[in-house]
Amino acid sequence: MTEDLQKRIQAALANPQNMGEMAGADSIGTVGNADCGEMLRLWVKFKEQNGKRVIDRATFQSFGCETAIAVASLATELIRGKTAEEALALKTEELAGELGPLPPMKIHCAQLVEGALRSALEPVAAETKKEISPATNPNAPTLLDSFSKPKESVKLTFLDE
Ligand code: FES
Repeated sequence: MTEDLQKRIQAALANPQNMGEMAGADSIGTVGNADCGEMLRLWVKFKEQNGKRVIDRATFQSFGCETAIAVASLATELIRGKTAEEALALKTEELAGELGPLPPMKIHCAQLVEGALRSALEPVAAETKKEISPATNPNAPTLLDSFSKPKESVKLTFLDE
């Protein structure tokens, strides 16, 4: 690792953002790396903004790896205000943000953060897609269907006097 990168990691670690568990999170993602034994958990809370469900806040817990902590700190700031889909579209190097390019042996640390994000956000993105899909789902009933469907016949039963 270059001295420059080490400095940037130390700077991010000096004031890590969004560390710790979040009570009442809407989604939680956990990933582990069997090779280095690192584990990372991410909590995400959403809010409604301009008719969209966007990330209000994200927090994380990580054990030991400084690079993963630094990336998670930057990434949890970066995804604020984004929809689950927008956050999922971010590339590993974008999540590492101002840390700059990571050396090959540290790329998996950023990928751990990306994995936790995927684990937390993919179910939310799938849910959102389902909610939106009636307009694009070819099998979904359309407004026209509701008018053209034959009405159920009404059976009248007359009571004897
Ligand atoms: Fe494995 Fe950083 S050394 S996540």
